[in-house]
Amino acid sequence: MQDTALQDIRSAETLEALQAVKTKYVGKSGLVTKELGSLGKLPPEERKARGAEINAVRAAIQAALDERESVLKRAALDARLQSEAIDVTLPGLPLPTGGLHPINRVYDDLIAIYRRLGYHVVEGPEVEDEHHNFEALNVPWYHPARDLQDTFWLEDGRLLRTHTSPMQVRYMVEHEPPFKIVVRGKVYRYEATDATHESMFHQLEGLVVGERVSMSDLKGTIAEMARGLYGPSARVRFQPSYYPFVEPGADFAVYWDNPRGESKWLELGGSGMVHPNVFKAVDDLREAAGKPRVYEGLTGFAFGLGPERIAMLKYGIPDIRYFYANDPRVIGQFRGEL
Ligand code: PHE
Repeated sequence: MQDTALQDIRSAETLEALQAVKTKYVGKSGLVTKELGSLGKLPPEERKARGAEINAVRAAIQAALDERESVLKRAALDARLQSEAIDVTLPGLPLPTGGLHPINRVYDDLIAIYRRLGYHVVEGPEVEDEHHNFEALNVPWYHPARDLQDTFWLEDGRLLRTHTSPMQVRYMVEHEPPFKIVVRGKVYRYEATDATHESMFHQLEGLVVGERVSMSDLKGTIAEMARGLYGPSARVRFQPSYYPFVEPGADFAVYWDNPRGESKWLELGGSGMVHPNVFKAVDDLREAAGKPRVYEGLTGFAFGLGPERIAMLKYGIPDIRYFYANDPRVIGQFRGEL
């Protein structure tokens, strides 16, 4: 029996097979165990010798089982280590990274300039009412900007703001002068789209109100912005223009020194001195809300510009629609750029 047992043990290829062999010989009802159990049937004088004999067999089998078990365990461990091996010298997999949208990068540049000049940065609602978007800004009912052609009207009579200027009104109703703010955010116009027009785009609006704020402060501020964007040699140009909420009003352009090609005047936005009617409308709203009238008699300047135009030139993007089409071939170029 010992020989067959040792043979069985040697040919067990797995721990499960070995366990079966163990059960067969030295388990509770295994062959060796049974032999031991039957000792009692032998005549007393034979028991001792026979018992020693069986115990020796059992010890030999047990030793062989233990040895085989440790060999099989080692082999199983080796196989596992082999299959789970990690080659730490392999190059890593590239993780897809995002990046700041070009419009946000331009906003960051602009806002850094205005923070340096002491401005607060605010935002406002994109769904506006007619009063804040037009009426309080001295935009008369017959002004073409009110036209159904330009404004996205909502069914409840409200609208998508067509510019960030309504935040001038909201801010002044809530805060007393003096202050300097810039407003960032999306605006909407109901227009046909082409390479330079989108129905949604962005604006940065500035408003400064205080005692003796003047047109030269406005010009100095825009010049400071131009130098911040394009370096110390940047130039600015103002041309008379009309916006109902400023008087006088002026469009401004920045001379852009293009390192890659043709340099040119970049028409950036509109500006002007806050119209007295705007201050009056603000004071009316304040009074209705139980607040003191504090704006009439003051002066202030305002400006508004579009980061899209700056971004198109800066990054050589030829069509404004590329910004919002989410085409990875365009946006992917800004991956990882913060
Ligand atoms: N709100 C004007 C526009 O959207 C820009 C502007 C802002 C002009 C402030 C003058 C003063 O075109």
